Amino acid sequence: MTEKFRLDNHISLVTGGSKGIGFGIAKALAEAGADIVLVARNEKDLEQAQDKLTQTGRRIWTYSFDMSNVEKIDGMFAGIVKDTEGVDILVNNAGGTRRGPAESLSTDDWNFVINLNMTAVFALCQAFVKERIKSGKKGKIINIASLMSETVREDNAPYAASKGGIRQLTKALAVDWAKYQINVNAIGPGFIQTDLTRALWENEEFNKWLAWKTPWGRWGSPEDLGNAAVYLAAPASDFVTGHILYVDGGLLSTFGPSSW
Ligand SMILES: NC(=O)c1ccc[n+]([C@@H]2O[C@H](COP(=O)([O-])OP(=O)(O)OC[C@H]3O[C@@H](n4cnc5c(N)ncnc54)[C@H](OP(=O)(O)O)[C@@H]3O)[C@@H](O)[C@H]2O)c1
Repeated sequence: MTEKFRLDNHISLVTGGSKGIGFGIAKALAEAGADIVLVARNEKDLEQAQDKLTQTGRRIWTYSFDMSNVEKIDGMFAGIVKDTEGVDILVNNAGGTRRGPAESLSTDDWNFVINLNMTAVFALCQAFVKERIKSGKKGKIINIASLMSETVREDNAPYAASKGGIRQLTKALAVDWAKYQINVNAIGPGFIQTDLTRALWENEEFNKWLAWKTPWGRWGSPEDLGNAAVYLAAPASDFVTGHILYVDGGLLSTFGPSSW
C-alpha cells in the first residue's frame, strides 16, 4: 500500500516553493521520492531551500522567475522541460494579495491579484498539459486554493474572487483533461503559519479567536499541507479529480463552539 504513496521517478514543479506552504509541499514530495523544481523570485531564498531539500537525496533545480510575467510562462516552462526532461506533478502555489475596502481598491490592485493568483495558474496549467499531451504521459496538477474559495474575510475582495476562481478552474480543468489522464485537484489551506500570516500569528487576540474557531484549536503548518499534497500527487489518488481538499482543522465546517 505505501508503494502507492511513493513518488520515485517523478519530477514535481512547485511555484513559490522557496518558503512557507510551497516549501512544506516541496519537502514532503521530495521525502516521498520526487525530484523537485522550485520557482520563485528571490534567488537567495531559492538557494537556501535548495540546500535544505538536497538533504533528502533528490535532484533539486531552481528557477528565479516572477509568475506575474504571464506572457513569459510558456518560455520558462519550456526551459524547465529541456533541463529536466519533463514535469509529472505541477503545484501552483505562488500567490499574493492586495487588501483594502472594496470601494477604494484600484483596477491595478485587482489586476495584480487576478493576474498572479489566476491567470498565471491557468497559463502554467496550459503549458504543462500541452507537454503532457505531446509526450503521451499522464500528470497531476495541485492548485492552492484557500478558505476564501468558500467564504470571505473583510477587505480582501480580489483575493476572494481569485481563490473562488481557482476552485472552479480546478473543476473545469479536471473535466477537460481527464481524457489525457491529468488529475486536477486543489488544496485549501486553513490558517497556516508562514511569513504571509505573520501579522496574524503575532497577534494575541487573533490567536484566541483562531483557537476558539478551529475545532482542532491550533494553527496549521506547511507540513500539514505537504502530507495532503503527497496524497494528491501519488498513484493513491489516481481516481480523485476536481476535488478541493481543505486542510483547515475543521474550521470551514463550523460556526464555532456552541456552549450557549
Ligand atoms: N498562509 C496561509 O494561511 C494561507 C492560507 C490559504 C492560502 N494560502 C495560499 O498559499 C500560497 C502560499 O502562501 P504562503 O503563506 O506560503 O506565502 P509565503 O510564505 O509568503 O510564500 C510565498 C512563496 O511564493 C513566492 N512568490 C510570491 N510571489 C511570487 C511571484 N510573483 N512569482 C513567483 N513566486 C512568488 C515567494 O517567493 P518570492 O517572494 O521569492 O517570489 C514564496 O516562495 C498562496 O497562494 C496563498 O494565497 C496561504
